[in-house]
Amino acid sequence: MGRLRRAGPAFEPEAPATAANVAIIMDGNGRWAARRGLPPLAGHRAGTRALHRTVEAAPGLGVRSLAVYAFSTENWGRPEREVDDLMTLFAETIEREFPDLDRQGVRVRFVGRRDRCPDSLRALMEDMEARTSGNTRLDLWVAFDYGSRAEILHAVRAMIAAGTDPADVDEARLRAHLHAPEMPDPDLVIRTSGEMRMSNFLLWQSAYAEFEFTTTLWPDFGGADLEAALRAYAGRQRRFGRR
Ligand code: IPE
Ligand code: IPE
Ligand code: MG
Repeated sequence: MGRLRRAGPAFEPEAPATAANVAIIMDGNGRWAARRGLPPLAGHRAGTRALHRTVEAAPGLGVRSLAVYAFSTENWGRPEREVDDLMTLFAETIEREFPDLDRQGVRVRFVGRRDRCPDSLRALMEDMEARTSGNTRLDLWVAFDYGSRAEILHAVRAMIAAGTDPADVDEARLRAHLHAPEMPDPDLVIRTSGEMRMSNFLLWQSAYAEFEFTTTLWPDFGGADLEAALRAYAGRQRRFGRR
């Protein structure tokens, strides 16, 4: 028997010059605040400024799509005071950041459940999405009340409810039922604060993502840190299971 040969052209693993699609697990706000003797809200507030800096730097570094983890399905389990503060802060941040985001050509979309947050916040999210829908310079995906397991379960339930034939359940069909089917898979996932876990973020979408972990706490993050992560990515070899 001859050697098994692969059909098609030889696969050349190569790293693209930059990661066009980046996702960030913005972690470390609480520790940033605690080190200063401040309540968690102070860290979350500083975190919104880090997001502002990062979004501003992203397009110039070749990033086209940026997904950020703002609030997980598990974060509802935090003390009531912190959750309330976060909901208020999200609303304030949407209102404060809208003009700058719009001016920079950023299209904002929220990924996750919408049925558990205050009505006023939901209205602000919908308004932000509608008012930035024509922008094309950067896609910003804000994962809010987001959890990958819930997202995948939701997709499975939707397919069953639609009477989908099991033979028709493939990757494309499942993806079509995710919260944001048009969101590209991340090339690079960055997590700040030194923790090295996914915490239920983009589990389906990150199947072949590269990972970069930094000990920088999220409120201290900015354009230079994003650039450093992209530089590390540029040195990777993506193999996708091939030789
Ligand atoms: C991330 O910062 C923000 C949210 C989860 C909302 P943390 O609040 O988790 O910060 P640490 O991990 O306690 O430092
Ligand atoms: C993940 O951070 C969620 C967000 C960044 C919004 P957490 O701080 O909630 O994650 P764990 O609890 O350390 O895994
Ligand atoms: Mg944390």
